[in-house]
Amino acid sequence: MTSTPTHEIRTPADVLAVSPVIPVVVVEEVEQAVPLAQALLRGGIRVIELTLRSEAGLGAIEAVAREVEGMVVGAGTVVAPAQVQQVKDAGAQFVVTPGSPPRLLEAAVGSGLPLLAGAGTLTEMLTIAEAGLTEMKFFPAEASGGRSYLSSVAGPCPQLRFCPTGGVTPGNARDYLALPNVGCVGGSWLTPRDAVARGDWGRVEELAAAASALASSTAPE
Ligand code: 3PG
Repeated sequence: MTSTPTHEIRTPADVLAVSPVIPVVVVEEVEQAVPLAQALLRGGIRVIELTLRSEAGLGAIEAVAREVEGMVVGAGTVVAPAQVQQVKDAGAQFVVTPGSPPRLLEAAVGSGLPLLAGAGTLTEMLTIAEAGLTEMKFFPAEASGGRSYLSSVAGPCPQLRFCPTGGVTPGNARDYLALPNVGCVGGSWLTPRDAVARGDWGRVEELAAAASALASSTAPE
């Protein structure tokens, strides 16, 4: 696994190269975001996808971008074109969408921020490729066919590379990472809701340390 310095996050490929796992995070309180991100960093995870699934999401992006040096901050669950400028203004360094309808894709590409656009089918993958992007999010990975689907995609589309998320766990992450067309995986397991709610940052750090160790234990097939 190559290590990409924070200041060099310019392309989707750079986003895929930061870490074997991108934590997909929901915070209910903005105040949770900074200690949570610091715990991930202590565990060796230098990237975070803070989702807009809660009202605190945008403020959380702003707080981590401002206060947690060394952390690459992305905005996740960006589902409406207007949100793209909001997350850019908040300091997000990359954007993640769960799906890729035309207006959202256009707004996100137009922002100039690295984008992991979501695709669950070959047609969606090719639509994203037509927009000039060869790296993308495969979502929801397990429900959309999982590892065997991505293996099949590599036949007709060997140039495409993925961050599978949705149903990725410590139990199957290694299998995904072993695929040649997978750059990293994403998942919410590093930041369990109960641990975040009670501020159990030690637990988050432990889970992050285990996830960052996936890099050294994964041999390409
Ligand atoms: C995502 O948006 O990437 C997913 O909701 C994460 O899925 P998980 O909770 O199954 O890890």
